[in-house]
Amino acid sequence: MSIPKVSEKNSMPALSVKNVSKHVALDGRSLEILTGIGLEIKQGESVAIVGRSGSGKTTLLGLMAGLDTTSAGTIELMGHQLENLTEDERAELRAQYIGFVFQSFHLLPGLTAVENVMLPLELLKQEGAEEKAVELLNSLGLGEQLSHYPQQLSGGEQQRVALARAVIARPTILFADEPTGNLDSSTGAEIIDLLFEYNDRLNTTLVLVTHDEALANKCQRQVLIKDGKLVDRHSNSSESDNDEAVAEEVLEGSIS
Ligand SMILES: Nc1ncnc2c1ncn2[C@@H]1O[C@H](COP(=O)(O)OP(=O)(O)O)[C@@H](O)[C@H]1O
Ligand SMILES: [Mg+2]
Repeated sequence: MSIPKVSEKNSMPALSVKNVSKHVALDGRSLEILTGIGLEIKQGESVAIVGRSGSGKTTLLGLMAGLDTTSAGTIELMGHQLENLTEDERAELRAQYIGFVFQSFHLLPGLTAVENVMLPLELLKQEGAEEKAVELLNSLGLGEQLSHYPQQLSGGEQQRVALARAVIARPTILFADEPTGNLDSSTGAEIIDLLFEYNDRLNTTLVLVTHDEALANKCQRQVLIKDGKLVDRHSNSSESDNDEAVAEEVLEGSIS
């Protein structure tokens, strides 16, 4: 790796977001998408990011995963300050630490299921990519679909391939943007079980955007984004004064 190594203590936060803002130019004006976001996520933690459609959840996930750059503030991922890195260095960091399940899967249409899942291992120049991808897809019940192209797979199957691709290299942090949003409830429940299995078994840090209350409630913590601001934190393991604000948002039904 060309990016400098930092010593990885378990006490180091997986993510440390400080005073982050994001604006984009739109029609000659500056549109503020996120303002003054502060958030720390520990290694092995599971965090649900909730909030209405358009509140800035996907934008925040993309910033934390180093897919996009902040307009102000700092983000540290496993001790690496993202603002100090070039685009190539951020790509290396993602390959090393991150799995990302996109809302619309983002599978490469010209590659088969097994080839899509092999990609992260090939980027890391790891041996045995094909065997590992086949084994993982088999364990996800996709043994019959190994050589199918994405358009030959159902939504649930594509989601499982996307999840396999995100976890094959055993990421330290797994991001998922509405991972159950396009699935029927039983397929959604299977995906949820898989996500938390990685969290339990491998201490994978989970950062999920979801409007699925069952999924949000399984996370140790919920974070509410409202109009581009982080207005609330909610711990599922203890009562907090702010629980009501999250509950209200969820009950209003416009969360996504
Ligand atoms: N590149 C962009 N250019 C202009 N507007 C954007 C861009 N990215 C996001 N937005 C706007 O920022 C807001 C937040 O978007 P997003 O993070 O996708 O919200 P969420 O995931 O919570 O639905 C939305 O109003 C969206 O239209
Ligand atoms: Mg979104």
